[in-house]
Amino acid sequence: MEYAVYAEGLRKSYGGVEALRGVDLHVPRGTVYGLLGPNGAGKTTTMGILVTLIKPSGGRAFVAGYDVVEEPQRVREHIGVVFQEPTVDRDLTAWQNLYIHGRIHDLSRNEIEHRARHVMELVGLEKFLHRRLRSYSGGMIRRFEIARALLTEPEVLFMDEPTVGLDPQARTRVWEVIEELKKTGVTVFLTTHYMEEAERLCDTVAIIDRGVVVAEAPPEELKARLGGDTLYLKTASPAEARRLLKLAAGYGDARLAEDGVTVVLVARDAPRLLPTLLQEARATGVSVIESRYVRPSLNDVFLMLTGRSLRDEEGGWSDWMRLHMRARR
Ligand SMILES: Nc1ncnc2c1ncn2[C@@H]1O[C@H](COP(=O)(O)OP(=O)(O)O)[C@@H](O)[C@H]1O
Ligand SMILES: [Mg+2]
Repeated sequence: MEYAVYAEGLRKSYGGVEALRGVDLHVPRGTVYGLLGPNGAGKTTTMGILVTLIKPSGGRAFVAGYDVVEEPQRVREHIGVVFQEPTVDRDLTAWQNLYIHGRIHDLSRNEIEHRARHVMELVGLEKFLHRRLRSYSGGMIRRFEIARALLTEPEVLFMDEPTVGLDPQARTRVWEVIEELKKTGVTVFLTTHYMEEAERLCDTVAIIDRGVVVAEAPPEELKARLGGDTLYLKTASPAEARRLLKLAAGYGDARLAEDGVTVVLVARDAPRLLPTLLQEARATGVSVIESRYVRPSLNDVFLMLTGRSLRDEEGGWSDWMRLHMRARR
């Protein structure tokens, strides 16, 4: 099978609550894949099914080529898992935690020793192998859990909200570790409600909302669906703005802003387009006195697809503002 993870029509009901209403996933081998969605969207439930801890109410899923319902043991042999809540024994050292984990997975002491050094190096914790986890910071615990999940050399590493609750610096360190992992060829399946995390790390993002995947594509492609970037080019006079408007219309959806001197252009690839536009403007005698562009974020994509903001903490007023501004375009 070409996919490291494949799911088709996954459903899950908890009593009367439909947590998943038909989830489809396609995760190419050796890539980083992110399931992005707000709290309650169904991320943990989806991951629970994929790692064989939750039985789906319907649909099918394959991990590393094995059916999660028919061959759960095979699936477990090929995966590593980092759960949303830490699951380490803080009274033990990293080495002791690794040793127990390795023995549970039938590794010999030699194998565990050899691999422990390697995985601890990978996450930058080699100096702390014989420290009790009680002395680790939250970020170190997370990195340790990644190391532990890698001990069995999994084909697919699952991580549920890997940086939730970490300070920005610790979060960046975890991101660096995941970027390192990419080079090792392991497939990474992570869930997150941070769009920055999905944008930075993921080759493919699946946006999940209320138990359904509403889009699945590389982040750049998702953002391109919004029609591109928005460029603002301010000129010195309305006459110049009108000339610039004609020129800009050749590159995308252009209009005049309410101030009468600014051209607003929605077009692909603003960083490359802007110098060209400025040059052409100059050549036709238009002086642009101010220019800037705004690139869409995955939050904008989520907003377009669901009508709501991904940033649950924002809500309300800023949602209204964004919708209002979008309607004016
Ligand atoms: N064990 C459970 N019993 C009942 N409802 C649950 C259970 N686990 C999750 N849910 C519900 O299913 C939905 C999806 O939850 P979850 O998969 O944890 O979402 P996420 O990880 O995206 O925040 C939510 O509405 C949640 O309240
Ligand atoms: Mg969750």
